[in-house]
Amino acid sequence: MAPSMHEWDPDTNLFAHSVIGYAIERLQLPKDTRWGALPADELAVVLRPTITPTGVGGLEALRVFRDVLLPACRPMDDPMNLAYVPTAPSVAATMFDLVVSASSIFGGAWEAGAGAIAAENQAIRWLADLAGFPDTAGGVFVSGGSAANLSALVTAREVARATRTPSSRWTVAVTEEVHASVRAAARVMDVDILTVPVDAHGRLTGAALEAVLAEHDGDGVFAVVATGGTTNAGVIDELDAIADVCDARDMWLHVDGAYGLAGLCSAIARERFRGIERADSFGVDPHKWLFAPYDCAALVYRDPAPAAATHAQHGTYLDAVDRGEWNPSDYAYHLSRRARGLPLWFSLATYGTAAYTEAVDASIRTARAFADDVASRPGFTLLLEPELSVVLFTVDGWTRDDYLRWSRERARAGVALLVPTSWQGEPCLRICLVHPRTQLADLLALLDDLAAPHEGRTW
Ligand SMILES: Cc1ncc(COP(=O)(O)O)c(C=O)c1O
Repeated sequence: MAPSMHEWDPDTNLFAHSVIGYAIERLQLPKDTRWGALPADELAVVLRPTITPTGVGGLEALRVFRDVLLPACRPMDDPMNLAYVPTAPSVAATMFDLVVSASSIFGGAWEAGAGAIAAENQAIRWLADLAGFPDTAGGVFVSGGSAANLSALVTAREVARATRTPSSRWTVAVTEEVHASVRAAARVMDVDILTVPVDAHGRLTGAALEAVLAEHDGDGVFAVVATGGTTNAGVIDELDAIADVCDARDMWLHVDGAYGLAGLCSAIARERFRGIERADSFGVDPHKWLFAPYDCAALVYRDPAPAAATHAQHGTYLDAVDRGEWNPSDYAYHLSRRARGLPLWFSLATYGTAAYTEAVDASIRTARAFADDVASRPGFTLLLEPELSVVLFTVDGWTRDDYLRWSRERARAGVALLVPTSWQGEPCLRICLVHPRTQLADLLALLDDLAAPHEGRTW
């Protein structure tokens, strides 16, 4: 069957319903966690050529996706996917992502996407309110935390440039625990990095920041990136004390909360982010822990005007754009954009913010209960009390190779995906919980499995 590209005929109708039907099926089915990457040569054998002059037809292409391609992708939303930072999009958010695609909205300029942008801005406002930002705050949804960090830092440098010419190179202050995307942003911007040591919990403190800045030659440090929930350990930097230093030294404070700032909507964790209200900008990724599908990151500025001055694009072909309205393109490095905040908006509107509080709290509670169990088990060491939903722990006597082999074997068996990392130079295991349906009992079963004698194991 070859449905028409732009005509709606009976074949197209059947095809369209098949695609939507498949999407609904994928959302409901219990997932097989054995899905995962195949070596490229194995995939090449099972994936026949599909791009041909006449096409293979819509139903066949869908079959190939369902039977060949998707099984070679990791199920990121499985409740037992505990590696890196997984995802847990709500049913409403995922279904609405399809609606956004079907609606062909240009989300870059108000004149094209006013309705969509108004809804996205409600979601941005919800986040700004959670952070305690003023009514004048504003922001934009970008593709990810990396894009948010880059766009915020470019704005910060423009703000600094407007007020001073430094005697040294422009520099961003961070810690070793900052996400790799911040270092990548510094490379793109050709600015230097000043690394501040962390405390015993892996946290950036105001005192350490001040001490390093006092020793630093030159006045090029224009921004500090603090983290609201580090990727590796879920640790929240000392935001209030860092804001004091930034105020005193006239530096931009960006809080990277790609993973952890979802905790702002948690009744349990909110207090830990004290000082976030003093940041100049923050980023949080709804595709991580706010139940939106990829790709969706919110970048919020306390004062959006300098961001617009930095990022707005101009050209004769853009002269006709109405500059008097809120144009999301102006607030980050992009022009055309999908209204990617709409699935989050729809999910919030569908379920209410209380459901978000409940869902984020569920992961934090499960992480704490899991950590308590680890701490009380002989043969295990809890490395840090979890602040959010990341737990780091070791199994006595295990090497990095032991962790790796166990992790690979359990992933292959479809039990769970958790991968080793390091804490203070030592290998350890890490779980990151974002799915409210992750069951404590299943996590404890992993500990039982790890505790079983591994002498003579075939893995
Ligand atoms: C703290 C932090 N910042 C930035 C990122 C990068 O986000 P993205 O992958 O959406 O670009 C991550 C990803 O895990 C993160 O945890």
